Amino acid sequence: MNSLVSTLHPSQVTTIDVSQLHHDSHTKPLVLKSIHDACQKMGFFQVINHGISTEVTENALGSLSKFFDLPMDQKTIFLSNDVKRPVRLETFRVDNVSRVSRELIKLYAYPIEDWIGSWPHNPTDFTENLGKYAIEVRRLSLEIMGAIVESLGLPPTYSRSSLEKGMHMIVGNKYPQCSPSSNILGLASHTDHTIITILLESMSGLEIMDSNDNNAWKSVPAAGGTLKVLIGNHLEVLSNGLYKSVFHWVTSNAQKSRVSIGSCLSFPMAEMVEPAMELVDEEHPKRYKASSLEEYIKFLSSKADKSYIESLKI
Ligand code: OGA
Ligand code: NI
Repeated sequence: MNSLVSTLHPSQVTTIDVSQLHHDSHTKPLVLKSIHDACQKMGFFQVINHGISTEVTENALGSLSKFFDLPMDQKTIFLSNDVKRPVRLETFRVDNVSRVSRELIKLYAYPIEDWIGSWPHNPTDFTENLGKYAIEVRRLSLEIMGAIVESLGLPPTYSRSSLEKGMHMIVGNKYPQCSPSSNILGLASHTDHTIITILLESMSGLEIMDSNDNNAWKSVPAAGGTLKVLIGNHLEVLSNGLYKSVFHWVTSNAQKSRVSIGSCLSFPMAEMVEPAMELVDEEHPKRYKASSLEEYIKFLSSKADKSYIESLKI
């Protein structure tokens, strides 16, 4: 599959300079327009000048790698299939049914002081390094989500308190190296349930489905210092379908294993997300039912035959 996939040219990836979103920037309207177009056409963009230093991102990826490199018997205490556990390790190994290979740890990360004590303490710098990144990426996420809200033509304060109080879940991923001939994926095709997901990666491997090009899979080039922003299902709902959650997957690499950190940003657990009233009128009727993160989690265990976002469509 990989050989047929084209790589997006850097000019095809919308790159948002976060420093231009600050209040005094006269270029802000242009940046909001780029965000609007990227969210509408691709469901995806990347950010630069985001204020998170390379030291912080490298240390976070480094500690995460060290955690995954521990022998399994030191990690089994975190293994669980219970989706409600705030700290949870899962492993996916290739077998005849599943053609994916991935190990992941999910960590609740907001408010950080409530959860960080239950994160892994081995390696010893895990909580410090992942904690620093978690705090900074959450600050950044509020800035990005605020800009996305404005790019929809909504008041900047729209949903601000739900976003400020919202859920932040860190997903640390490790994708082992795999022979390319084996057709093994790191992670199968999906959309995220979130408002947005911010992705930090050690190398390329992410591919997105390009709905402007016959749903062709496109590899997203890794660019040092950038973070990727993926539109999730709950933003699709909030925008009444104006912004689309993006299908993505992760391919495996023959030479190197890959680590990534996804920051999943949502409303608070029980709070409903619904289409913004301002985006609903006679010409644009409400297209989605209201739903919460809690309902998404229930949906996960319901073994439904459609995807979550399809289940919300009216
Ligand atoms: C995810 C995801 C991508 C990656 O965790 O939902 O899409 O690169 N991760 O790890
Ligand atoms: Ni994802």
